[in-house]
Amino acid sequence: MSFMEVTWIDEVTGKQGFLVIDRLVRGAASGGLRMRAGCTLSEVRDLARGMTLKEAVVYSPGDNYVPFGGGKGGIDCSPYDPDARGVMKRYVAAMRPLIEQYWSTGEDFGVRQDVLDEVAAEVGLRSTIEAALALLPDPEAGFARIKAAFAVEVDGVGLGDLAGGYGVAETALAAAARLGLQSPTAFVQGFGSMGGATARYLARAGVRVVGICDAHGVVACPYGLDVERLLLTRDAFGCMDRSQLRDCDVELPVSSWLSVPADILVPAAMSYVITAENAADVRASLVVEAANVPTTPEAEAALYARGVTVVPDFVANVATNAWWWWTMFDDITADASSAFGKISVTLRGLVDEMMDRALATGLPPRQAATEISRAKLSDLLVAVG
Ligand SMILES: NC(=O)c1ccc[n+]([C@@H]2O[C@H](COP(=O)([O-])OP(=O)(O)OC[C@H]3O[C@@H](n4cnc5c(N)ncnc54)[C@H](O)[C@@H]3O)[C@@H](O)[C@H]2O)c1
Repeated sequence: MSFMEVTWIDEVTGKQGFLVIDRLVRGAASGGLRMRAGCTLSEVRDLARGMTLKEAVVYSPGDNYVPFGGGKGGIDCSPYDPDARGVMKRYVAAMRPLIEQYWSTGEDFGVRQDVLDEVAAEVGLRSTIEAALALLPDPEAGFARIKAAFAVEVDGVGLGDLAGGYGVAETALAAAARLGLQSPTAFVQGFGSMGGATARYLARAGVRVVGICDAHGVVACPYGLDVERLLLTRDAFGCMDRSQLRDCDVELPVSSWLSVPADILVPAAMSYVITAENAADVRASLVVEAANVPTTPEAEAALYARGVTVVPDFVANVATNAWWWWTMFDDITADASSAFGKISVTLRGLVDEMMDRALATGLPPRQAATEISRAKLSDLLVAVG
């Protein structure tokens, strides 16, 4: 049972928003805010549970950062809705007391951090991470470190939009090496914060990214896409500019996202996209979950039975969340090399730990990682008293 579940109804549009705090640790919970048409309370509850696992799984007693509990917000409104910003602002205004006291939040699917920051300021919040800042001896210094980290850009993309996907790419590379995949190819669904950075750092590591899908459809090329060029053509919704495609790039409809053969499949968009109905169409031998809850339990069981390895969301996409807190608690400095170094060591270590436990116990990777996270949560609850 969750610590708290809130359903909010927008007095202007009648649209609904939700906040689920799965668990508090040290009086605080962490987790992003998403916006999509059709978002439900049960989806947000699943996501909040995942956040508890995601927080605890990176617990390291040597760090200043001691993880929080998990929470998540969701608004049932398309980010393309003409009043999306207004709905988000009214939601944030309504949740303000909970943001100040318990819930530290940031961008998620359909929400951009810069817009969320603007909206928070308009409703009188200094930031959306007040509950976490309150746990620092010097909140002003912690907030300054976060602001400095968000000001960092790497080749035209902000570090805040890179940390998570860099972690997904490192996870994919580590898992592919463990599985003995030689010169793997990759397909990425979603080309926003998570998918964009994942594709960039897979390509930079020499992986051929043979297809990318955004809200408008698939762009594919068996020789490998020019990811760097495509990244810089994205609009505010993470969609590629098709006028910039090369002659060898082909366009396919959104629905054909599983038709492009690739060794590594990275779902980096919506939840519940790999289902019992389409699991047989997955041709990859490795699925790395950049998105939250992209694979239903039935689909995952079917994939496992076929020998397909699924690296769960709360391991693969942990880096954005952890990067905020490592920065704020001064475990890393506000630059890309410090961030990428910590992310790489942590994620590669976690993949090894998860795969070792999966091998030793015969459990699927998700169950092995869940055991690891729960054990770390117990340790950290003892540590914080
Ligand atoms: N941003 C983060 O910090 C973060 C951290 C961890 C996990 N996640 C998860 O990663 C996923 C993506 O989040 P994001 O922040 O990158 O979102 P985003 O809004 O930045 O990007 C979403 C991408 O998905 C694409 N998309 C939308 N509808 C689509 C469809 N029907 N088919 C294919 N692509 C479609 C969009 O065009 C865009 O490229 C979500 O599940 C989110 O929960 C995000």
